Amino acid sequence: MELTQAILERRSVRQFLEEPVPDQDLRDIIDAARWAPSASNQQMWKFVVVKNKTILAQMSQLVIDKIDKLSVESGVTELQNAKSYSTFFNQAPVTIAVFMKPYGKNKTEGVFRSLGYSEQEIQRLRGHVDIQSIGAAIQNILLTAHAKGYGTCWMCAPNIAAPEIERLLGVEESWQLKALVPLGKPARILRPTTRKPLDEILEIIE
Ligand SMILES: Cc1cc2nc3c(=O)[nH]c(=O)nc-3n(C[C@H](O)[C@H](O)[C@H](O)COP(=O)(O)O)c2cc1C
Repeated sequence: MELTQAILERRSVRQFLEEPVPDQDLRDIIDAARWAPSASNQQMWKFVVVKNKTILAQMSQLVIDKIDKLSVESGVTELQNAKSYSTFFNQAPVTIAVFMKPYGKNKTEGVFRSLGYSEQEIQRLRGHVDIQSIGAAIQNILLTAHAKGYGTCWMCAPNIAAPEIERLLGVEESWQLKALVPLGKPARILRPTTRKPLDEILEIIE
């Protein structure tokens, strides 16, 4: 599939067929993630592909429990609405959990720290390079999956239970969950979504 076509056609898919995903396809998709650019080529990412239905259900339950807990603690009942767009990953044949190891060994960051800059200021002045790198890898996953006929959805809402999911999946503490990407054959064809007009977001300075 031509790249521009894949970029324009890809849609977030939230309903999947049961059809299993061959391991070779999963390997090809994560291989594409591996070739994303990353700050100083640090490749501060790790991908855990969960196929196990029991574990997917447990992950989803952790998200539901966390929403319930926060909803009760805060009295904000509308939080309950988050459940639908936070938990459908358990309906996909596989879900890719994307982990990031924060990248803090940069010289400039060290200088900022020695000068007493706050972590928030440092991230602002460094441009959140590790998050940007993870984003590039995730987009490679989405586009490669689409080109192979799979649907995906980039999901950050489940991060509400990130520490609990990290413990369930048994990853080392230094790795932080940043996104879940359910993947499978789409259950239906999706209509195109909209985007802001190009001229609203583009400025060219001659
Ligand atoms: C960083 C990020 C987080 C997202 N988190 C969720 C999510 O938790 N749940 C969900 O249903 N969609 C999520 N989405 C998908 C967006 O809602 C979707 O990309 C957007 O509405 C545009 O639709 P499209 O992907 O079909 O073009 C997320 C997308 C991004 C980039």
